[in-house]
Amino acid sequence: MSIENDFYLVKSFDQKYCLQVFAPADVCFTEGKGSYLYSMEDKEHGIKKRKYLDMIGGIAVNSLGHGNKELTGAIAKQAGKLIHCCNYYYIAERSELAFKLCKNSFADKVFFSNSGAEANEAAIKLARGYFYYKQQEKYEIITANMSFHGRTMATISATGQEKFRKPFEPVVPGFKYVDYNDYEQLEGAITDKTAAVMLELIQGESGVHPADRDYIKKVAALCKAKGILLIIDEVQTGVGRTGTLFCYEQYGIKPDIMTLAKGLGGGVPIGATLCTNEVATGFQVGDHGSTFGGNPLACTAGNVVMDQIIEAGLLTNVNKSANYLMDELTKLRKKYDMLKSVRGMGLLIALEFDNELISASGMKERLFSMGILVSAIGKSTIRIAPPLTISVAECSEFVKAIETILKSEVETKKPLSGLIDGIKSLTGGKKEN
Ligand SMILES: Cc1ncc(COP(=O)(O)O)c(C=O)c1O
Repeated sequence: MSIENDFYLVKSFDQKYCLQVFAPADVCFTEGKGSYLYSMEDKEHGIKKRKYLDMIGGIAVNSLGHGNKELTGAIAKQAGKLIHCCNYYYIAERSELAFKLCKNSFADKVFFSNSGAEANEAAIKLARGYFYYKQQEKYEIITANMSFHGRTMATISATGQEKFRKPFEPVVPGFKYVDYNDYEQLEGAITDKTAAVMLELIQGESGVHPADRDYIKKVAALCKAKGILLIIDEVQTGVGRTGTLFCYEQYGIKPDIMTLAKGLGGGVPIGATLCTNEVATGFQVGDHGSTFGGNPLACTAGNVVMDQIIEAGLLTNVNKSANYLMDELTKLRKKYDMLKSVRGMGLLIALEFDNELISASGMKERLFSMGILVSAIGKSTIRIAPPLTISVAECSEFVKAIETILKSEVETKKPLSGLIDGIKSLTGGKKEN
């Protein structure tokens, strides 16, 4: 049985047989090419195939775009040779990817897993194991309010947002939350039990909020001075997303542990926990593992992505398109009061709107109807994280769509604001009771 060409069956099977933890838009994509996705054609129900500009890139995952020949070719070739081989044996592709990651970062060692949450889970265990083997009773981990580190029990415990933890309490003990970018608060939260500070350099899931440069530098210096490990979660910001291979490079610091996932496999699930030789003592043989982690297929994908970034000059494109987007979106912010903020780094950008005038979900739906995909965060923010291969022309398509919507919103709100101004002038500008 195949339900490939029956959108209604796809939808009803999902609703009937899949746990309903997502709220998908009314579309199913079956193909992708470059920065575009194509929706399912369902002739029986008169649904035509439609083209969408993918400005969310599978939430910062499809780093090489869709249908990238180098990536799909290498995956197909590897699938024909060996998909999986367990960690009882050496894996050539894993050794190669570990080498590339270490050679191009602060790290000496890597552990591979399958997702961002798993990469963070390993980082948390590694930090605790490090002090355990040093025979020091240090286990507390300080994280930031509004952070996001994943959906497993330890990573929701690390996540500084109560909504992710509440239904699943009691969570893993030993986590403390402090306000992001508040150095004094973080310093005040340190005790003799503190093992690590765990931070994102840009809080992606809560609205693309970059950390202050000074704050991160001071936190890194504090950690070093006090022998506390600095864990940087680059699951969303890593692997070229912000215009450098890793975002920490732009902050002039070196973490002790860094986590990666999302873009590293270009769409093939992979997670990675990187650390120094010193911190690597936190895991002894048998302390951690993963059946699938570091398998030949996922590592082949990781190797292609790393080659594209390091050898094929993909970062030049990231910076070109990112600069264009920032410049043009900033122009729109200056022109339209409704667009309150444009922030981010590289190709991870948020647009915040005045939600009294236009909501994030409204904006997302309007863009969707125009064939453009973004994600909405909260009431007022949309986030974009397109493929790193996106061209300036494609970015311009997005900017034009935003301007079209803003222009039409201004037009439709005009009579209303004219009326409000009229009432204000009649009442001498006093507030009506
Ligand atoms: C910073 C950060 N850490 C961890 C995760 C969790 O990654 P995954 O969904 O692959 O488990 C995410 C996912 O959005 C993330 O943005």
